[in-house]
Amino acid sequence: MTVLFADVVHSMDIAAAVGAERLREIMTELVERSAAVVQRYGGMLSQFTGDGIMAVFGAPVALEDHAVRACLAALGIQEECALLAAEVSDRDRIDLALRVGLNSGQVIAGEIGSVALGYTTIGEQVGMAQRMESVAPPGGVMLSESTARLVDGSAVLGEPEMVRIKGAEEPVAALRLLGMGERHPGVGRAESTLVGRRWEMSAVEGLLDRAIDGHGAVVGVVGPPGIGKSRLVRELSAMASARGVEVFTTFCESHTSQVPFHTVARLSRAAFGVEGLDGQTARDRVRDRVPDADPEDVQLLDDLLGIADPNTALPPIDPDARRRRLTAVVNAASLARENPVVFVVEDAHWIDDVSESMLVDFLMVIPQTPSLVLVSYRPEYEGALTRVHWAQTIALAPLSDSDTATLITELLGPDPSVGALGQTIAERAAGNPFFAEEIVRDLAERGVLRGNRSAYLSTVDAAEVTVPATVQATIAARIDRLNPKAKRTLSAAAVIGAKFSRDLLEMLGIDPVLEDLVGGELIDQLRFTRQPEYVFHHPLIRMVAYESQLKSDRAELHRRLAAAIEARRPASADENAALIAEHLEAAGDLHAAYGWHMRAGAWARNRDIVAAWLSWERARRVVDTLPADDPHRAAMRIAPCTMLCANAWRVHVDVAGDRFDELRELCIAAGDKASLAIGTAALVIEHVYQARTSEASQLASEAMALIESVGDPTLTVALSCTAIRAKASNAEWCDVLGWSQRVIDLADGDPSKGNFIFGSPLALAFTTRAIARYCLGRPGWRDDLRHGLAMARSADPMTYATVVGYVYFFGIPFGVLRPDDRAVNTIEDALRIAERSGDDFALAVTQQTLGFALVHRSAPERDRAQKLLAEVGEAFLRQGCLLGELPLVNVYLARERARRGDRDEAIPPMRATADHLFREGRLLAWGIPATGVLVETLLDRGTESDVAEAEAAIERLATAPDDEGLVTREIWLLRLRALLARAQGDEAYKQLRDRYRAMATSLGFEGHMKWAEAMP
Ligand SMILES: Nc1ncnc2c1ncn2[C@@H]1O[C@H](COP(=O)(O)OP(=O)(O)O)[C@@H](O)[C@H]1O
Ligand SMILES: [Mg+2]
Repeated sequence: MTVLFADVVHSMDIAAAVGAERLREIMTELVERSAAVVQRYGGMLSQFTGDGIMAVFGAPVALEDHAVRACLAALGIQEECALLAAEVSDRDRIDLALRVGLNSGQVIAGEIGSVALGYTTIGEQVGMAQRMESVAPPGGVMLSESTARLVDGSAVLGEPEMVRIKGAEEPVAALRLLGMGERHPGVGRAESTLVGRRWEMSAVEGLLDRAIDGHGAVVGVVGPPGIGKSRLVRELSAMASARGVEVFTTFCESHTSQVPFHTVARLSRAAFGVEGLDGQTARDRVRDRVPDADPEDVQLLDDLLGIADPNTALPPIDPDARRRRLTAVVNAASLARENPVVFVVEDAHWIDDVSESMLVDFLMVIPQTPSLVLVSYRPEYEGALTRVHWAQTIALAPLSDSDTATLITELLGPDPSVGALGQTIAERAAGNPFFAEEIVRDLAERGVLRGNRSAYLSTVDAAEVTVPATVQATIAARIDRLNPKAKRTLSAAAVIGAKFSRDLLEMLGIDPVLEDLVGGELIDQLRFTRQPEYVFHHPLIRMVAYESQLKSDRAELHRRLAAAIEARRPASADENAALIAEHLEAAGDLHAAYGWHMRAGAWARNRDIVAAWLSWERARRVVDTLPADDPHRAAMRIAPCTMLCANAWRVHVDVAGDRFDELRELCIAAGDKASLAIGTAALVIEHVYQARTSEASQLASEAMALIESVGDPTLTVALSCTAIRAKASNAEWCDVLGWSQRVIDLADGDPSKGNFIFGSPLALAFTTRAIARYCLGRPGWRDDLRHGLAMARSADPMTYATVVGYVYFFGIPFGVLRPDDRAVNTIEDALRIAERSGDDFALAVTQQTLGFALVHRSAPERDRAQKLLAEVGEAFLRQGCLLGELPLVNVYLARERARRGDRDEAIPPMRATADHLFREGRLLAWGIPATGVLVETLLDRGTESDVAEAEAAIERLATAPDDEGLVTREIWLLRLRALLARAQGDEAYKQLRDRYRAMATSLGFEGHMKWAEAMP
């Protein structure tokens, strides 16, 4: 049995504050409410101690699960006390709080059943319960070790605390009860005996055994509705629980398949044990679970779990970095797990995209952990979870005829009068156990079957009985027979979801009638607290209940539900925006739905770019369904279309084509130049990333003209970085110089002006002006570089990392800057920042910058450079992005090959790259260092034809048309001509070398100075 002891905190002070009379009133109220809770869980209120309560569970009547019941009661009593406390704090200005302690122990056999169970008999147990109570925090529940042991598995407990208690020498363990898991013994559904499924069960059991041994697995359980997926999963879960393995279950639902993070957040909440905990307790628990994790990572985890502290802002981390880091923490937590676990994801055919892709990432480490992951889905699902190539799949076939017969006999009972009916049912059910069950329920409700489950009689001739043709029709017939109130309850519940609570139904204006529904096994009760929770017995019942109601009624329920979701947790409105939008859309409230989709997009933008993208897409589609004469239609359409264009590169979608054309038409019609400017800037970046350099350059000019015509300096400052990037890629340094200057003038010293795309446009403008200046041989670039870096350092980390990238990305290959230790350390810093906070592209570009620096250093570092460059090169190709950067990456990789002695293999790709850049008209951009490396390598090999080829390559670079006077080309030409002269044994070598040295020194190009010095 388990003893519960509860006591009011500081009751003397309360008495002093409100008087003994009022205290008695309050206590009477508290005791009455607590007594009702104790009774609900089958306990006995055994004593009222004046300012406390004592109750006993499991005596005098034996109850197998006394400890679980006592825990539920303890939480229920605290719930009641909190409600009462709110009332008395308004009226009496006092804080009412209870401490509760629990302890379990044996009862002397003879005493069981005796009515007068004396205090002395259980005195020892009471003493310990009282001690536990004394160390509980106000509002908390403490369990002794004996109780904790009995509820392990169904309760959420804190870490054991060693506490000193009066009268005991040694400290004893006490554990805080934080919450109760959802399914506890004695709750759930009446199930028939499992038939068949022998090999399926032994297969998953085998995998469970392996998982317990540390070799985890992922199993897909596939089959049509009603075939027994959930049943198989429940059987396995029960088996796992019996072996002390924890089981975490979550399910996907049809109406949340477009609500990002829905499933992954629920599953993670279960796995981290924070379901039902208040914010602070939940956060503490997460920190216990990942004690060594980076604090920022833990903050991201809080946000994913929906338990973030509302007073702390989300750290500025790009969604890509967020995903990398969350995957790393979650996977580290999985790998650190010592106790075996089973994770269940039910009905994955309804999983949302974000959860799906995150789960795939989380599954990667499962084979190295003691975990078994079961994913159930219908055959039509073909998503990413089915493509985890090492996962096992179990396809559930219909039950065999004999198994079906066994099941039906169990459902109907042995009476000969039902024999023929059984045959009819078996034929119709065709091996689908759920169908068989529903037919039996239908027949019982129709009076064809009389009596009780497993003991039916029939008075009707089987030949005259008609059975509905499908399981849906059977369910529909059963729902039809419900009384109007129960039917209305079921309809409203179907709108809410698979799981629902009484209070939410009430918020929808329903007067819930649930007993009939539970009795008819249309729904099952999950929680027996003050706010009971229910779940549909099967998703098909929910679906039929949803679809069989009048559209207009349903729409009204959706509208009320949207309002209720917002009202229940106003602080989480952004987080729930996608769900609210979903309901409003189903309600036909299109303007409101549009607003919530946009809000969901804004919320997701910093969390998952695909999620944000989907929200904008849906907002756009909502606009499509508005009447053509809606006056807001055009304006409403522009906003999502602009966001879709602006973020297309992030999700690897093309802007060029329909997407951009649509935006342009809308903007022109509406006279919205700003949105068109944003869309055009996005298309410029797409051209750059796709290596369509001359298109990018041309469009950049148009974009700048458009941006300027808007006449908004902030917008100009914000967007010009895209145009500048395009011009830099095409080596049009005069434009880069002019536009950088424009940003510097407009920003007028304000580093954060126009910072909605990039943290400090001004810092970047100084850097790009520096690059333009040195390319054109103008003075002042050194100060610009210093200035830009200093400004970036005091902006946000990613701005700093990006500016560092710009500085060295161009500076080192052009020979302007030297890849010395300081440079390498700075880039390494930037790389660390990009890894922590940057998007995948920023990370790749920073890796590339480091690679460019390291290829110019000594052998061991060059090995690392080679690895880095090979990686980013592959990533660019895979993502079809940043292709414009590939040529130089390939040239440096080829040179590493040559340096390893494989010159013959290395030269052809170098030559091909230089030719390619020439054909593309990009010889004056990456073509300069590319030609440089080709010529150096050819001269190194030094055959006659190599020397001739080198000379031709130099000539080609020298004659490339340019009206800007690029000194970066001039100095490279001087270097290459000197090297050529030396190879040809030409007298002119020394003079050329000296001129090269002099030019490098006078320009202050440190890279060239070093190279020149090294020339003999
Ligand atoms: N092998 C079986 N033996 C007995 N009953 C079964 C069996 N498989 C399924 N059932 C019962 O059939 C009903 C539907 O099964 P369920 O697992 O919910 O189907 P699914 O998840 O595939 O839609 C449940 O009530 C379940 O207990
Ligand atoms: Mg199921």
